[in-house]
Amino acid sequence: MKRLAILLIAASALFLGQAQAQRVNLLCSPDLAWCEALGPAFKEATGIDLEFQRLSSNDALARLRAEAANPIFDVWFGGTGDPHLIAYREGLTEFYEPTVWDEIIQDLKDQVGGTYIPLYAGALGFVVNEGVLEGKPMPAGWRDLTDPMYKGLLGMSDPNSSGTAYTVIATLVQLFGEDEAFEILAGMHQNMNQYTSSGSGPGQLAGRGEVAIGIQFMHDGVKFAAQGFPLTTYAPVEGTGYEIGGLSLIANAPNRDAAIAFIEWALTPEAQMIAAEQGDSYQIQSNRNTPVPELAPDLTTINLIDYDFDTYGTPEVKERLVGRWTNEIFPQPR
Ligand code: G6P
Repeated sequence: MKRLAILLIAASALFLGQAQAQRVNLLCSPDLAWCEALGPAFKEATGIDLEFQRLSSNDALARLRAEAANPIFDVWFGGTGDPHLIAYREGLTEFYEPTVWDEIIQDLKDQVGGTYIPLYAGALGFVVNEGVLEGKPMPAGWRDLTDPMYKGLLGMSDPNSSGTAYTVIATLVQLFGEDEAFEILAGMHQNMNQYTSSGSGPGQLAGRGEVAIGIQFMHDGVKFAAQGFPLTTYAPVEGTGYEIGGLSLIANAPNRDAAIAFIEWALTPEAQMIAAEQGDSYQIQSNRNTPVPELAPDLTTINLIDYDFDTYGTPEVKERLVGRWTNEIFPQPR
């Protein structure tokens, strides 16, 4: 009996030791505050350690491609959906159906389900510091952004790193057709003060008065306004695109069990509430039981385009559009 008890104690100590050693490596693409809040809460809920690296969506995709033969990350958390879809199509991620699948908003699943797990949704818009406009009217729509009166007053992110900027390009192509979209992008370029590497950078610039108009996700605009910056956030009149932010299990994840534990936890309302409560992030979260943050822009009142995730989440389409922007628009003198 005594020997059995000792054996049992030894075995459970070993098990506990293993559980304690468990950890998950996260590739995290939302804003830093949300990424930082995840680890302590996940550790408290499961005992599993979490380490993360924050990379913008397209930088994250590039990283997964580079590490495909020897993955370092277990889970890719957040970031725009198109690169998650591309990662799935390239075999860099696998689709894992979480136990809470029934609780995920049906409309989001209908659009991307079976490729990646919808984590949140948010729409593109303008984030404007009216004081910096010095009496000029606030732009009502995308075409207005090409007006020379806005010279030096625009901020947008770079589509080579940022999923937000790629969503802008894909949105313009869907709204106006490719030729007119690139004319608008060329006109915007003439007015561009700077391209930031991450999607929410332009709103920060607008908040500080370095630009007047940030082109980015609206939920990031309301965040900076809530932090006290003099910003107005709204959607362009012609209609706007949106993201279905992604959650993906990395193919051949080194810590697969911990990865699955994280995915299961991350989709609970308690975990999703961390976004607004600690992470300053006001997207609509994908679990229909997660309360909608008061500050979240109401997607039902915004004129959203019927975003074609299938087409714009195709590797060739994305490479071509980003390549065209990089070769034809970015080098133009301004
Ligand atoms: C911000 C937004 C997210 C979005 C992300 C994309 O963090 O709050 O909703 O998914 O930007 O980041 P990126 O830097 O790739 O544009």
